[in-house]
Amino acid sequence: MDENYVADKNAYREAMSRLGAAVNIITTAGIDGDTGFTASAVCSVTDDPPTLLVCMNRASKSNPAFQASKILCVNVLTHEHQELSGPFASIGNLTMAERFGLARWLRLATGAPVLESAAAAFDCTIDQIHEIGTHSVFFCGVRAIHLGPATAGLIYHGRAYHRI
Ligand SMILES: Cc1cc2nc3c(=O)[nH]c(=O)nc-3n(C[C@H](O)[C@H](O)[C@H](O)COP(=O)(O)O)c2cc1C
Repeated sequence: MDENYVADKNAYREAMSRLGAAVNIITTAGIDGDTGFTASAVCSVTDDPPTLLVCMNRASKSNPAFQASKILCVNVLTHEHQELSGPFASIGNLTMAERFGLARWLRLATGAPVLESAAAAFDCTIDQIHEIGTHSVFFCGVRAIHLGPATAGLIYHGRAYHRI
């Protein structure tokens, strides 16, 4: 293969918009308090040991908080949580305190905020960080799991939310 060949960025973004993915709120807790952002770039790595990855834009204002705390919780949203996704994607410019005030949160092993009503929550330590292009890839060891209601999920596909 020609190693100089790189797919066009806009074609890549359009193609990725057709790859549906669950919507999650990724949280952490550190010296500046609780922090969180909306993410669909979450993927299982292996169940032995339980490991997942999260991709986070390096330009995000919250990125340093995750790099410093080395903990995060992946909160998998249900169809009832669409109104949480926007605020945690910085739509409406709510403060972190205001965002977290929109729902009820628990603490498990690491101290990162766990959304009580999440379909599932993975409480993790960030064990490795790979910086690739614009993003930090967090490889996370799962330390505790919270299971909420096994109800309809929330998917982002074609630049829109869908209930599944
Ligand atoms: C459905 C959806 C999925 C998103 N997925 C990601 C993601 O996987 N990684 C990421 O870094 N940002 C993702 N974002 C964007 C971030 O939520 C948003 O850029 C971030 O909250 C902005 O943070 P800042 O204002 O601190 O820079 C997503 C946004 C939405 C609405």
